[in-house]
Amino acid sequence: MDPARFFAASRLVIVAGKGGVGKTTVSATLARAAARVGRASLVVEVEGKNGLAAAFDRPDLGYDPSEMWSRGDPPGAAVVSARALTADDALLEYLADHGLDRVSRRLVRSGALEVVATAAPGIEDILLLGKVKQIERAEPDRLVVLDTPASGHAITFLRSGRSLIDSVKVGPIQTQAADVLEMLTDPARTRVLLVTIPEETPINELIETAYKLEDEVGVALGPIVVNGVVPDAPHTDLSPAEAAAAVGVDLSNDDADALVAAATFRRERAELQREQLARLDAALPLPQLHLPAAVATEIGRSEVDRLATALLRGLESLPDTVVTAGESPS
Ligand SMILES: Nc1ncnc2c1ncn2[C@@H]1O[C@H](COP(=O)(O)OP(=O)(O)O)[C@@H](O)[C@H]1O
Ligand SMILES: [Mg+2]
Repeated sequence: MDPARFFAASRLVIVAGKGGVGKTTVSATLARAAARVGRASLVVEVEGKNGLAAAFDRPDLGYDPSEMWSRGDPPGAAVVSARALTADDALLEYLADHGLDRVSRRLVRSGALEVVATAAPGIEDILLLGKVKQIERAEPDRLVVLDTPASGHAITFLRSGRSLIDSVKVGPIQTQAADVLEMLTDPARTRVLLVTIPEETPINELIETAYKLEDEVGVALGPIVVNGVVPDAPHTDLSPAEAAAAVGVDLSNDDADALVAAATFRRERAELQREQLARLDAALPLPQLHLPAAVATEIGRSEVDRLATALLRGLESLPDTVVTAGESPS
């Protein structure tokens, strides 16, 4: 499919998955890929330092957006921005936007603050998602990529809209929760991209999360991003010693043995990876986008740019049906 069409399909992409699988890297990659096909993007990081700044070779990010990649780099590319949200900032801004005194007084009078206190984690999530909703609405032509906080948190985070509606029946929080839920469940506005690595446990968790998100939150799931895929080694029938001899290189027995061991390890790993990807494919009727394992130990701008190239290539080979309006993948 045309990557530009993919990135135009919704306004908010929520990147979720187990901690350490590459959510932050994938968020930066998605934002850069979208910009490279002409769609301006903004990556939003929540709950402190997740390494998003480092993915853009920056020391840190502020609450206000700043430019990570400028427009026209390369020609035709749109701007990539990023910002870091905290619940505290979001609350202050929310209250200020809504007339601090009046809302605070009403919250106190209605006893809602007690509810706020007992439901504290949910409230924080809804404040953050409420802010994301405001950002999403502000510039419909821009893609917002939300990098969700670590491990297992994604569901709670996405569910906070629903649980708050159940627990708070009236008032501004209920309205906020309802608005957030409306955004999350509208596939023209929001899609969730789940990230995994090609290994057994993360794949099991991803499958479980996918079904929970669909059933409990009702979000539209985009393609699965499989990060850190090791490419298949080129096939050869020659042994390392034979291959070395063929190009006139003298190989010691120790080196030849080490190369055989390395090749065997690589082949077995590729085989395991193939099995896991096939299992994922059988368990979840969602297309997969594969991102290669980068050689660099630290992911920065240039790696993100390379991963964006791989992502765009992956999108090009997906069928058009991936973004049929309003579809549910199962
Ligand atoms: N495709 C990749 N190739 C190599 N290293 C990667 C890749 N994706 C992520 N990493 C590295 O793995 C670590 C975890 O990635 P990160 O994006 O922070 O995961 P998460 O946000 O899910 O916790 C980071 O050090 C990151 O640089
Ligand atoms: Mg992260």
